Amino acid sequence: MYKYTEEQLVSMKKVEASREERLKNLFPRMTAEEKQTVLQENHPDYIQSAYEELKVGPNKGEKVLHELAELLQGKPRTLDMDIDLSNPDYDVDVLVIGGGGAGSSAAITAHANGANVMMVTKLRIGDANTMMAEGGIQAADKENDSPAIHYLDAFGGGHFAAKHDLLYKLVNEAPDAIKWLNDLGVMFDKAPDGTMITTHGGGTSRKRMHACKDYSGAEIMRTLRDEVLNRQIPVVDFTSAIEIIKDENGHAAGAVLQNMETGEILVAKAKTVIIATGGAGRLHYQGFPTSNHYGATADGLVLAYRAGAKLLYADTLQYHPTGAAEPTQIFGALVTEKVRSLGAQLVNKDGKAFVYSLETRDVTASTIIRECKQRGNGVKTTDGEGVWLDTPMIEMIGGEGTIEKRIPAMMRMFGKYGIDIRKEPILIYPTLHYQNGGIYITYDNERGGQSDVDNLFVAGEAVGGIHGRNRLMGNSLLDIIVFGRNAGKFASEKAKTVKVGKLTLSHVNDFKKELDEAGLKPEKLSPQLLPKYTR
Ligand code: FUM
Repeated sequence: MYKYTEEQLVSMKKVEASREERLKNLFPRMTAEEKQTVLQENHPDYIQSAYEELKVGPNKGEKVLHELAELLQGKPRTLDMDIDLSNPDYDVDVLVIGGGGAGSSAAITAHANGANVMMVTKLRIGDANTMMAEGGIQAADKENDSPAIHYLDAFGGGHFAAKHDLLYKLVNEAPDAIKWLNDLGVMFDKAPDGTMITTHGGGTSRKRMHACKDYSGAEIMRTLRDEVLNRQIPVVDFTSAIEIIKDENGHAAGAVLQNMETGEILVAKAKTVIIATGGAGRLHYQGFPTSNHYGATADGLVLAYRAGAKLLYADTLQYHPTGAAEPTQIFGALVTEKVRSLGAQLVNKDGKAFVYSLETRDVTASTIIRECKQRGNGVKTTDGEGVWLDTPMIEMIGGEGTIEKRIPAMMRMFGKYGIDIRKEPILIYPTLHYQNGGIYITYDNERGGQSDVDNLFVAGEAVGGIHGRNRLMGNSLLDIIVFGRNAGKFASEKAKTVKVGKLTLSHVNDFKKELDEAGLKPEKLSPQLLPKYTR
């Protein structure tokens, strides 16, 4: 059971005392100038000392965080291995690397298009960030909304940096993505007349967040996993992809796989390859805790980079404003934005609101960091400091029972430690949540979702450029479906025309030469595969 400190109890009383007043007078939205200032002064993306210039590879000369640079320029795991590529263990049309929502959507779609498809995943199918997503999935399918309005919200929220072809696809194919999921059996929250219940997220001008309580990702993943299994798509689990294999023409043509338990090396040959390996929270950039799954170690970025694919916006990360700050057992775990959508306010140690609750994530996270680090208005916690998220306001606004009905996962997560979020506010601090950047792909010409490497497709969080330099809530569950389905469709179509040449790993030796020429002698094996503390 969690035991509050004396200081926390005194502060909590101030939060309770100011509640009625704060409910009447909502904190105003920030101006564009105020947002820019708080970002520049507080957002971790602006801490120059956390970055270094890449010395090799397609993004040579660009800056990324030290932790990612170490992996992108790391020692390839396959380097000292003697691998026989002439007799592959698997030979398929489409190889999907990754067992989350994007990989599953891709595999289902490729399979429906008649491809011989195989999934490989380093843990089990469903062990992924998709499973951990809570708040919902955006789609403009209500009468007062449109994909154009959705586009404007996401484009502004992403600092006008999203790639047009990707964002256009995301918002236009969103309503069909919801229909697809609904038809597959996802149990979305619905009103008695059968219409979908939708709410706001940070930076949305319309209520377009569809949800399954606050288990949205788990419910979507459950449904996708069932579909993969029902279709009897082969899933090779507990097996990591450790290198992309190319053919003599320089096209992606499979992957070197390593069994996570036995270390056995296997070769998968494929006509097309889809990287759907998810994010990087478990690299704990800049020492942040994370809301991410244990497998989130940027493997796909590393594999694609060594194979010659350019990255886009790899320097920008998302720190979700509300990670749990107490109790320490759940430090960094996601407290869904939906808590604020339903009315909870962010409040400092003196019981004062300091930000409009639904600013975009990067702005909100920055104001929390400012409140704690610059203004000294944070509450001391076991692992550092935090601010209050005033959850009892939800029941004042929505009526008794709202919390149990709409966010039961949050109630349960804190309830395990004796904290009743219907009665007590909770302590939160930003947590590393999402990789805004990733592998560059394009749908704006003949390449149809491929990276810079022919026949190498990408879907989900491993893609860079869909959201620009900041993502809105609910656009990630959406992108895994939209770009997963597209990758499956385009990769299976392309596979019909591909003739694979002789397999080779010569690009790995070329990369090693580049490292040598740059004077780099990396010891760290790459990709990392698991966080350091799981070894
Ligand atoms: O706050 C959340 O529920 C997270 C959603 C998202 O990252 O899209």
